[in-house]
Amino acid sequence: AALAYSEKTLDHFRNPRNVGVVENYNGRGKIGEADCGDVCEITILVEEEQINDIKFRVYGCVGAVATSSAVTELAKGKHCEEALKLTDDDVVEFLDGLPDQKKHCSLLGIRALKQAIYDYWLYKQLLENGQVTNRIEHEQIREDLFQQFANEF
Ligand code: FES
Repeated sequence: AALAYSEKTLDHFRNPRNVGVVENYNGRGKIGEADCGDVCEITILVEEEQINDIKFRVYGCVGAVATSSAVTELAKGKHCEEALKLTDDDVVEFLDGLPDQKKHCSLLGIRALKQAIYDYWLYKQLLENGQVTNRIEHEQIREDLFQQFANEF
């Protein structure tokens, strides 16, 4: 039987908001779900600790697309500290519910968002310390660092 998705979930699946990569982004998170193989990437542009632009790309199921789209809508314009408090329950509520079997999908975007925020803070710190001068240099060292902390997101 087809899963009973809410109208809002189907809308976000068919017309996902904020798809792509933010130009000049300064934070990026990319999370893969080992069980189902779905992957979500979120890029953000943070200015004065506020998320002024956010976009996502996803490879995944209906739930992964809709919930990632929802995460971008929920986080846009928020202060980083506020955005970090968003939970998978907020995403499910925003979408007027998700079928039980699909609840786990809502974690994908949330975890990618959190990683993007931590990545922004790390990038900012490394820039201030003069350890990197641009995003490309940062990307080279961030993969190693995030591998070490992957389980915390
Ligand atoms: Fe894995 Fe949806 S089935 S994120």
